Amino acid sequence: MTGKVFLVGAGPGDPELITVRGLRVLRSADVVVYDRLVHPALLEAAPSSAERVFAGKHPDGPRVAQDEIVRLLVDRARRGLQVVRLKGGDPFVFGRGGEEVEALRAAGVPYEVIPGVTAAVAVPAAAEIPVTHRAYASGFSVVTGHPCDGGTGLDWSALARMPTLVVLMGLRRLPLVVARLLDSGADPSVPAAMIARGTLPDQRVVMGTLGTIARRVEEAGLQPPATLVVGRVVELCRSAVAAPNPTGPERGAV
Ligand SMILES: C[S@@+](CC[C@H](N)C(=O)[O-])C[C@H]1O[C@@H](n2cnc3c(N)ncnc32)[C@H](O)[C@@H]1O
Repeated sequence: MTGKVFLVGAGPGDPELITVRGLRVLRSADVVVYDRLVHPALLEAAPSSAERVFAGKHPDGPRVAQDEIVRLLVDRARRGLQVVRLKGGDPFVFGRGGEEVEALRAAGVPYEVIPGVTAAVAVPAAAEIPVTHRAYASGFSVVTGHPCDGGTGLDWSALARMPTLVVLMGLRRLPLVVARLLDSGADPSVPAAMIARGTLPDQRVVMGTLGTIARRVEEAGLQPPATLVVGRVVELCRSAVAAPNPTGPERGAV
């Protein structure tokens, strides 16, 4: 008898932001394999008898190898168990969910993807920053700041022109991200916000412009996880210094 692996999005932080379906599956799990950003309250939602396996990765710390994670998922499913692979946000947004699905398919293990609320949209929303707005932004891009010093193939000139740019994993490399955008023609006066621990009780928001945000974030001593938003929509944040001007024309990040 083969079990099944559920790739479940845990949501952006607040444990109540998992989906109803995700929670239902978690409550009947035999095994939970979870990432670093999963809230501890969600682990408590699993049956007390469930095996809990930490498979987190820290950018600068020890990592559980991806092969090891896949081996574990396949092994437990082949024993006939219901396995929940619980990932922060949505499993397919910088979560390596795509790779895990490929591996499960190759192994012939039944699986199901249960989408999650991604931090890319929910974290700005929790700071009252809409990533789109009829007056300010008719589109947005989401990128990772993580390997931006290593050449990601991203078109930074195009990103610098996006009305709203959301950067995940960009806290430690914020000066590099900002330099890339400014070198690509972005306007240093465009509003920017860094939101740390979004949706959680200790959420912090640091406001500035593209030209000032790196210094302000450093002064504030923000800790990960944090999400950067660049664009005029940032003016709509409750803590924005500038008053919102919803009648102004849409403007890009340049
Ligand atoms: C490896 S990515 C995973 C993203 C996840 N799969 C998602 O859809 O939200 C982790 C990054 O998401 C962002 N992030 C996740 N949770 C966050 C939170 N509560 N507050 C701010 N940013 C968060 C940070 O940029 C963090 O470095």
